[in-house]
Amino acid sequence: MAIERKRKLDVSSTVPAGKLAKVAPTPNVGAASPMFADQASGSIFNPWNGKPYSQKFHRILDQRKTLPVWQHKEEILDALRKNQVLVLVGETGSGKTTQIPQFVLEMMTMTVAETTPGDDKRRKKMMVGCTQPRRVAAMSVSQRVAEEMDVTLGEEVGYTIRFEDKSGPKTVLNYLTDGMLLREATADPLLRSYSAIILDEAHERTVATDILFGLLKRVLRSRPDLKLVVMSATLEAEKFQGYFGGEAPLIKIPGRLHDVEVLYTAESQRDYVESAIRTVVQVHMCEGPGDVLLFLTGEEEIEDACRNIAKEIGNLVGGGQVVGPATIIPLYSTLPPALQQKVFEPAPGTRKIVVSTNIAETSLTIDGIVYVVDPGFVKRKVYDPRVGAESLQVTPISKASAEQRKGRAGRTAPGKCYRLYTEKSFDEDLQSQTDPEMVRSNLGTTFLTMKKLGIDDLVHFDYMDPPAPKTLERALEMLYYLGAMDDEGNLTKLGRIMSEFPLDPQTAKALIVSPQFNCSNEILSICAMLSVPNCFVRPPKGVARRKAAADEAKARFAHIEGDHLTLLNIYHAFKLNNEDPSWCYENFINYKAMKSADNVRQQLARIMSRYNLRMCSTEFGSRDYYVNIRKAILAGCFMQVAHLERSTGRYRTVRDNQAVHLHPSTCLDHNPQWVVYNECVVTSRSFIRTTTDIRGEWLLDIAPHFYEMENLPECEAKRVLKTLYKNRR
Ligand code: CDP
Ligand code: MG
Repeated sequence: MAIERKRKLDVSSTVPAGKLAKVAPTPNVGAASPMFADQASGSIFNPWNGKPYSQKFHRILDQRKTLPVWQHKEEILDALRKNQVLVLVGETGSGKTTQIPQFVLEMMTMTVAETTPGDDKRRKKMMVGCTQPRRVAAMSVSQRVAEEMDVTLGEEVGYTIRFEDKSGPKTVLNYLTDGMLLREATADPLLRSYSAIILDEAHERTVATDILFGLLKRVLRSRPDLKLVVMSATLEAEKFQGYFGGEAPLIKIPGRLHDVEVLYTAESQRDYVESAIRTVVQVHMCEGPGDVLLFLTGEEEIEDACRNIAKEIGNLVGGGQVVGPATIIPLYSTLPPALQQKVFEPAPGTRKIVVSTNIAETSLTIDGIVYVVDPGFVKRKVYDPRVGAESLQVTPISKASAEQRKGRAGRTAPGKCYRLYTEKSFDEDLQSQTDPEMVRSNLGTTFLTMKKLGIDDLVHFDYMDPPAPKTLERALEMLYYLGAMDDEGNLTKLGRIMSEFPLDPQTAKALIVSPQFNCSNEILSICAMLSVPNCFVRPPKGVARRKAAADEAKARFAHIEGDHLTLLNIYHAFKLNNEDPSWCYENFINYKAMKSADNVRQQLARIMSRYNLRMCSTEFGSRDYYVNIRKAILAGCFMQVAHLERSTGRYRTVRDNQAVHLHPSTCLDHNPQWVVYNECVVTSRSFIRTTTDIRGEWLLDIAPHFYEMENLPECEAKRVLKTLYKNRR
């Protein structure tokens, strides 16, 4: 009792800002910390920043305490005190992502305060890191948690995603993408700045999370003080437990799900988007109160659907039907953060209709959803190691995904889930789980990072699910051809520098060699443009006049020799026009994307200067200005070249002799004999996107080691190259 009072005193007296580690060096403090959220009701000062708590803090705290994880707080912390690793499974929305990191932080802070009172240098070590596979989740959750802890985002609570670090010296809780933690590990292999790591959304099984599993398993051995919590939404949890030798306790947090009625369609649907829109409108017309969540696959599809739903509902009203008002909200990863936040805002007096990608399946919880419309598709990465092409494809979801989606309808009240496929199809066609990303990715970038982490044997690494041998082989081969790895499989100096850039290995190589082609300024701009979302604003379908104006604007920037050069033109024009938002608007250019490219460019430039890579340009008036740029691109992307087959008038990739088409978005006004491309997208057909005209001779000059005849499949391109070789001699 006496201690209890003393603790209270510690809190409400003076806790100076930023001196948390000095607080409460009480001996035998025991389990619960006196100064944190659950006990904070009595105190007026926030221990994290020494400021008085706001009104909002207590209101949110009351809400938080109703989340299912709060019932298990002591059980969880107790398990974590006794074990180094803990696996935690809980229904989406039970409070894992927002609450557990705060619980762990409180616990770790107490530990540090107990063992090293007053040692400010160890403050940094208290940091708790929580990984997220999705950037959007890292941003939005950190914002929410900053509010919950009543601190400013970017100070005590931060987030780190590629090209954007919103954490600082005061940060004690950081949400970061799994890819960024992997990156941090290359500089800090034992992750010494963290006292605890939380791998969230582990069921997503992204490549980065999978590698982190293997890495952390090693790190935990060298750092007995480090704690690891693995959190997931589905039932694969036993697998995670098994991976850590079965020693990690598994805590399941029962959800408080209400019943969800599942309705299947009688027949399979020909056009799932159309059918989805119809269903949503129907629900809005006929069903009782409650918000709607529709799952679609990507930005364009979502934006179109939002417009069409609004139109249909508008028509009903115009036609004299009695329907309530609706607020229609899109949600996808490339949406600007301010708009993403909209999904969490209440829309009183109207029915909220959220049209989202898979983000809303488990990463973000939207309260108030009662109706889920699930067409059964998702856009995901598919990799064909035979072809060497990685592409985003719309594919059927797994049963596990379908169940997750259904669950979104029953969080606050009994709900309904409309599956736009037949029950038979659910039973017979859907895979039970989604394959881990590891087995469907091109692992080039990952291998580079793993090498840098000191993982020598990529083949025998402790993978949770090892990639296919062909995939392994393709990735190693790619790094070898790029010069990132030597014959023995060791990282070369070039490979080391390549791994410093947050770019894929080919693009990084183009950038690193660009000074040799006297065009590093330009390649830097192109790399930056390739790293941000599409900079062209596409006016809505059906608005013909706007569309024509947008096409005209795009044509003004088009460089006939290729899309890479077009991107460069746009970047230059943006700078010449003083980064003016209204100029962007007039020219159908996405201002946000441009600002972000400019920022990325600066970051890449800093890495270049660290490695003394010269910034240079060929004189603009020179004939070689664009030639040099095209050559430098090829010097990185020489494995992505397609050749126009005379006999058929079609393109085929040189490396694998696969039929491909120029993407309709290309600015090329002709069909060059040879093109280098940035990526292959497979939809109804295989398209190569962002293509630039190159010359066959350059292949022999720039990448002779790759264009050796025995490497190439029998095809027309090979015959043409043979002639080129012969003519040289
Ligand atoms: O991670 P998990 O799915 O278990 O749940 P969570 O993301 O921690 O969300 C728990 C609750 O926090 C949600 O049900 C929301 O009420 C609230 N939340 C919010 O209001 N705003 C956010 N940006 C995130 C969560
Ligand atoms: Mg979560």
